[in-house]
This record gives sequence, C-alpha cells and structure tokens, in this order.
Amino acid sequence: MDLPQLFLLSALFIFSVSYLIKSLLRPKNKKTTAPMIPGAWPLLGHLHLFDTVNPTHVTFGEMADVYGPVFMAKLGSLNVMVINSKEVAKEIYTVHDKLLERPELTASKILGYNDSFLTFSPYGLYWREMRKIAASELFSTSGIDMLMFSRAREADLAFGNLYGRWEQRGKPKEGVLVDMKQEFIDLTANISLMMVAGKRYFGENPNCEVKEARRCGKLIREFLDYFSLFLLSDVAPVLGLLEWKIKRGMKRTAKELDKITEGWVEEHKNKRRDHGRSVNDYLDILIETLGGDKIPGLSDTHTKIKALCLNLVLAGSETAIVVLVWAVSLLLNNPHVLKKAQEELDSKIGKERVVEELDIKDLVYLQAIVKETFRLYPPVPLIAYRDVMEDFDIACCNCHVPAGNESDQMA
Ligand code: HEM
Repeated sequence: MDLPQLFLLSALFIFSVSYLIKSLLRPKNKKTTAPMIPGAWPLLGHLHLFDTVNPTHVTFGEMADVYGPVFMAKLGSLNVMVINSKEVAKEIYTVHDKLLERPELTASKILGYNDSFLTFSPYGLYWREMRKIAASELFSTSGIDMLMFSRAREADLAFGNLYGRWEQRGKPKEGVLVDMKQEFIDLTANISLMMVAGKRYFGENPNCEVKEARRCGKLIREFLDYFSLFLLSDVAPVLGLLEWKIKRGMKRTAKELDKITEGWVEEHKNKRRDHGRSVNDYLDILIETLGGDKIPGLSDTHTKIKALCLNLVLAGSETAIVVLVWAVSLLLNNPHVLKKAQEELDSKIGKERVVEELDIKDLVYLQAIVKETFRLYPPVPLIAYRDVMEDFDIACCNCHVPAGNESDQMA
C-alpha cells in the first residue's frame, strides 16, 4: 500500500469512527407524528369504519388495540389524532393545553346562542370571563351550599313519592315495579331547574306546572338528541348541505327553548323589580353579577345570562342520569356490595334519619361505589375534541403534533 492509499484509508477510518461516535452521542430526539391508520376513503376518510351499533369510543378503542395508544385517523377532511393513554392525555391537558382550542361545532352555533355556552365556547375573553363568574359565584363553596336545601327538598319529594306508591299498594314485601331511569330523569331535571331557575317541572309533584313542563321536557330531550348527533357539516363541510333538515330542526328547537329561557329571565327580573333584591337560585345570582336588569336593552348581557342559564340546566342532566342508572344497576347485580353499602349507612347514619349531603365525607364505601361506576361506565367517555393551534411535541411518547391541516384536531 503506497502513501496516498494509506492516507486515504486512515482518513476514511477516522471519519467513520467520528461519525459513529457523533451518532451515538446525538440525543435520540427525532420526533415522528403518530401513525395514520390505513383504509381512508376520499371525502369520507375513515368515517365508513364507524357504525350506528358501536359507540364512537368503542370503535376508537378497538383501533387503539391494533394501532397503539396514539394514532391518526381521517374523519371526513379532518386529520384527527386519537389519544388512548392516560399519560399522554395528562401531558396534553397540563403542559400543552394553551396550544389547544375548542373546534367550531354546528350544534354549538345553532343551539348554543352562537357558541355562547360555556361548555363549547372558544377559549377567548368571553370564555375566561364567564368561567370566572361560574367558578366564583355559582360553583364556589358558598354558591353550592346556598342551594343545598333545594337539592335536599327535591330528593325528599322524589323518594317520598316512591315510598307513597309502595304504601298505596299495601307495602308488599316484594316491593313494587318502578322505572328507576324515569325517576332519575325527573329528579335530575327538577334539581337542575330548581337550582338554576327555581322551577319544578317533572314527576308527580304537586307544584308541577304541567303544560310548560311537558313542553320543556320535550325540548330538552330534542336538544340533547341534536347535540349528540355526529354532523358531517363539522368534518366534511361539502356534504353539510345534505343536513339542511337537521339544521332546520335545530333552529326550531333553539327558538322554542329560547322562548322558555327568556320567560324565566323576565320573570326573575320582574320579581326583583317588584319585590326587591332576593337571591334564591343561579338566575338571581347571574342577573345580579352581570347586571342584566340594570342595563335594559344590552342584548349581549341578556343573551349571556340566557346562554349560561340554559347551559347549566342541560350540562348536568344527561351526565348525572347515566351515573345514577349505572350505579343502581351495578348494585342490583352485585348484592354483596349493596349489603355492605347498607351496613355503612346503618352504622354511620342510623335508621332514624335520611342521608344528607354533609354526610357524604363519612361514607367512604359509598364514595368508592360512585368512583367505580365512573371508571366502569364513564358518562363522557370521549372528551370533546380540540383544534391544535401550534406545533408541539408530546415528551412521554416522543411524538410530534403538527398544527393546522397536518393534524387538525385531537380526540
Ligand atoms: C356526572 C356528572 C358530570 C360529568 C361526567 C361532567 C363531565 C364534564 C366534562 C368531561 C367536561 C369537559 C368538556 C370539555 O371541555 O371537553 C365538562 C365541562 C363542564 N361541565 Fe360538566 N359534567 C357533569 C356534571 C355537570 C353539572 C351538574 C354541571 C352544571 C350544573 C356541569 C357543567 C359544566 C360546565 C359549565 C362545563 C364547562 C367548563 C369549562 O369550560 O371550563 N357539569 N363536564
């Protein structure tokens, strides 16, 4: 081997060794985006993989079994990153939450006073202000405690009514047949309506305002059904035109519900005008805090009050019913757990009085039953998706999330 060859070979060797050392020392932080699942159709994306039998979260769960805890799917024209991991969800909602935004939803625009519901409004100034009011005035300890009596009275009436029916039939040992789901629907609706607007509409209660109650019950049902629809307008706007009939129905329901809400607000304002300041429910608090009655004609404030009022009535009803129905059903199917819960009630409360909210802190077994029900049958299994406003990296799964069109939304 002559000198130039030797020189070339040693240079090559030194270069290879230094490249190897560099590549070994280089931090392994090259981030990749989550894998896109195969089988997307033009225009529809993976929408054809969803059916009317399996709930959406079950289909996503089956996909996660195959493609891992973080994957991409195409819903219509949107690229959606689906997260099925507690660690990843935690990092996103704690470290990167400022880079996320709520998406624009057709239902929220038509049914929610043009995105004015706290649950669906974009994270701007409006959401921050309304959330501050809700947190400090309505959901603060004093706001919650103020209406404790209201909730207890509704529960007393509902269970007193059930007991009455059993008594009327001569207190049969085997009990009487009741539709507990319907009882819970009436009870939760009465509690929300009483807390928000001072109204009792459902069940066989003596003060029930039957005609308005029936109308309100029907509209709440329609509202919740419309809101749970998966609309093509939100994911494939071109096909949204096909949904004109649904949108027309939504507008009709929104208009009718607005009439009812308008009535509640007016009634509260008139009462304040005629009888002076009194705070009996959330509407009284909202009118006082937002000053709606002091600034007549300021339609924006008036609409804000109506939006939050209706939002609160609707937000708590469906979710609470699902937990209650599952909890009772699980208890009936697990008599040994029911027995232990009864023993806890007997030892901590006794048989001479009914359970009160203030007792809950001492009823640890009952608390565990509720938590287990939430774990087994979460009432909101799929958190509402978010728009990704800026690129970010998820450290715990070494995954890059691009903003905008490359990864439009996260579920
Ligand atoms: C078992 C009962 C409930 C469950 C499982 C539940 C679940 C949820 C979830 C998952 C969210 C987050 C939605 C999102 O932004 O993606 C949420 C937000 C919200 N919920 Fe509930 N909820 C329940 C009861 C209630 C009740 C009783 C009320 C009111 C009376 C209520 C009012 C709200 C409001 C105002 C928000 C929006 C908060 C914000 O934007 O910061 N919820 N709820």
